[in-house]
Amino acid sequence: MEYKVRDLKLADQGRLKIEWAENHMHVLMRLRKRFSQKKPLKDLRIGAVLHVTKETAVLVKALKDAGAEVYLAGSNPLSTQDDVAAALVEYGIHVYAWRGQSSSDYYWCIRQVIESKPDIVLDDGADLHATLHKEYVEIASSIVGGTEETTTGVNRLKALEKEGLLKYPVIAVNNAYTKYLFDNRYGTGQSTFDGILRATNILIAGKVVVVAGYGWVGRGIALRAKGLGARRVIVTEIDPFKALEAVFDGFEVMPMNRAAEIGDIFITATGNKAVIRREHFEKMKDGAILANAGHFNVEIWIPDLEEMSVSRKNIRPYVTEYRLSDGRRLYLLAEGRLVNLVAAEGHPSEVMDLSFSNQLLAVKYLYDNRGKIPPKVFNQPRELDEKVARLKLESMNIEIDMLTHEQIEYLRSWMLGT
Ligand code: ADE
Repeated sequence: MEYKVRDLKLADQGRLKIEWAENHMHVLMRLRKRFSQKKPLKDLRIGAVLHVTKETAVLVKALKDAGAEVYLAGSNPLSTQDDVAAALVEYGIHVYAWRGQSSSDYYWCIRQVIESKPDIVLDDGADLHATLHKEYVEIASSIVGGTEETTTGVNRLKALEKEGLLKYPVIAVNNAYTKYLFDNRYGTGQSTFDGILRATNILIAGKVVVVAGYGWVGRGIALRAKGLGARRVIVTEIDPFKALEAVFDGFEVMPMNRAAEIGDIFITATGNKAVIRREHFEKMKDGAILANAGHFNVEIWIPDLEEMSVSRKNIRPYVTEYRLSDGRRLYLLAEGRLVNLVAAEGHPSEVMDLSFSNQLLAVKYLYDNRGKIPPKVFNQPRELDEKVARLKLESMNIEIDMLTHEQIEYLRSWMLGT
């Protein structure tokens, strides 16, 4: 079997981690059980570029148990859990991933996945989709369909679609309610602080936390910053609706230029580049901490930080001290990459249960409807999204009401008014 991982001897430890995730992913495990009996993905070849974590392991095991052959690469050079990767090889998954890759290693792994000629592709951030469309158009043209896990990836795919270049239908799993309302908000909200705390062990109480971006991720981070006792939580935004919402949610809103002078901890979650740059570094307090929760390492503009600093040293794992010429020190976490996946373990299993159950159902939907869907970006079909929500509630022993016949009639009718 073909694979490339750090060390197969780590497999025992990886298996225990995966077992822990399995015990906390009830919906996915239930679907996996059903799929392993019916084998709905029999003979399918799946290529996935996802963060190689214990939660991803539960998803790819489900895909394999459903009958597929799976090729997996990591979706970030620093996020792979090497023990999990080793355990997956033992399970028969073709894994090409290890922690601490160069950019060329990273793309080499993606190419191994592509060269397996997958029927369906799963991606997180769209590096797989983009490489397929840039360098492997022939293989891209034969793909049945794909999925995309994250907001940044969906934006890139929409740009590809707009230029008329998209070669296969893609389900934007990110846009399912049971994905973004939970994973983006509560998953990132918690795991971002998990990463910051594991890296620094600082006290959040009494600090001024600046959150750049008030999308679902920024909302979750601001909420958790408040819950951990931050003295002030400041939001920066470019969108007037989101800015207003942040104000009404009880946060201060101001431009980064002003926030830069005040903040103790800066967390970016915008999906854009150079959100914190030279003009902001110039104003920051000695000791300010910089962390990123957006998909790519472009939000905190490291080239400016490098240019402005007279020295750089790693002070703890995933904490780099940049000393500026005036003596101030700025601390960059996780090399500006996703702090939650680099310095911690990513989102907790319970929340990935929702995201990855959607992924599994989306793959089956694409396969069942092969040849019938045009090459466009689609939202997750509503019935699948709702199924995930209902199964999750059931797994938590939470019951909800049902509409009565009279209520259904009432909602359908325009006759009754005042
Ligand atoms: N993205 C964020 N958290 C994750 C996790 N635990 N596994 C896979 N992808 C993730």
